[in-house]
Amino acid sequence: MRVLVTGGAGFIGANFVRSTLATRPDVEITVLDKFTYAANPRTLEPVAGAITVVRGDIGDAALVDPLVAAHDLVVNFAAESHNDNSLTDPSSFVDTNLVGTYTLLESVRRHRTALHHISTDEVYGDLDLDDPERFTEATAYNPSSPYSATKAGSDLLVRAWVRSFGITATISNCSNNYGPYQHVEKLIPRQITNVLTGVRPKVYGDGANVRDWIHVADHNDAVWTIIDRGEPGQTYLIGADGEVDNRTVVEDILDLMGQPTDAFDFVTDRPGHDRRYAIDSTRLRTELGWTPRFTDFRSGLADTIDWYRNHSDWWEPVKSGVEASYAKTQQTL
Ligand code: NAD
Ligand code: TYD
Repeated sequence: MRVLVTGGAGFIGANFVRSTLATRPDVEITVLDKFTYAANPRTLEPVAGAITVVRGDIGDAALVDPLVAAHDLVVNFAAESHNDNSLTDPSSFVDTNLVGTYTLLESVRRHRTALHHISTDEVYGDLDLDDPERFTEATAYNPSSPYSATKAGSDLLVRAWVRSFGITATISNCSNNYGPYQHVEKLIPRQITNVLTGVRPKVYGDGANVRDWIHVADHNDAVWTIIDRGEPGQTYLIGADGEVDNRTVVEDILDLMGQPTDAFDFVTDRPGHDRRYAIDSTRLRTELGWTPRFTDFRSGLADTIDWYRNHSDWWEPVKSGVEASYAKTQQTL
């Protein structure tokens, strides 16, 4: 099976490439990645001999078309992925998440290559903290930020290409991932590397916002489950029942790193900050038989802390730039 992994040099895509190489010897992988600020070239270095890497934009039709034609399946991880950046400058989010997905879809349609489109639970907007409901495949789209709106738009394009042009595609919407190789702009790696560099962790607003954490390895197992057994044209939600509020995440990081649990700062809230995400993944579990393996969040967090402690060469070169840009927008409360 020849698989084109777009965005395969980013956090989730690179974990997908590495785990696929380790478990599926019958799969040939090509990575198509623009190598934006979010891609660390070191991530794929150890497996470079086992894959083909193409540097380029999913919105470049002349590049994309022959690549899609030469593969049996496209797994589309490529995206601008950070909410905070989408609030500063949404333009690349429109270009990659919308126009890029459209460009892939036109090639997929032309060559009848299968597609699995990776998306997020943020397309559903947010839930109140005390809402007994969780997101399901039937929840209406109601995105809040330029990031989630462009991801929602990309999902709707995929659905339209399935219905109108009969392409073979599945979509997955997953909750917040954590694990190795995540960019230090995101909550968990940012706070771990803050502690490692002697900076106090930063919590937005009141810290009561809830995210439904899943280990990246569980996300990628679920993606393969959907590729193997999912019904064409369908959407599956991926989540591991991992709801934790941000303050608790940061207190756990401090505790696991031997610091006082109150050694963090509350900073200015993110505009339009979604309150809570929560996924009901019953469909994926009952219809396709998937179950998560990393169900103990604190122990997954401890492993992730160890990974960042042992891989400072991977994150140190970009850390100060990320903090300098956050410093422009965040004030301690
Ligand atoms: P990431 O930002 O770490 O990686 C994105 C990758 O896409 C990078 O390697 C980047 O260079 C590449 N890329 C960006 N624009 C491109 C373009 N125009 N052409 C080709 N490559 C391009 O993101 P991630 O966290 O690995 O997320 C991957 C996917 O999973 C995204 O679609 C995201 O919406 C989705 N998702 C992420 C999470 C999460 O918690 N991180 C949760 C659910 C879904
Ligand atoms: P993030 O990792 O940016 O993911 P997302 O916006 O996709 O949920 O943020 C996770 C949560 O953590 C979100 O509620 C915002 C919050 N947050 C902080 O409190 N401090 C931080 O420094 C960052 C980056 C995020």
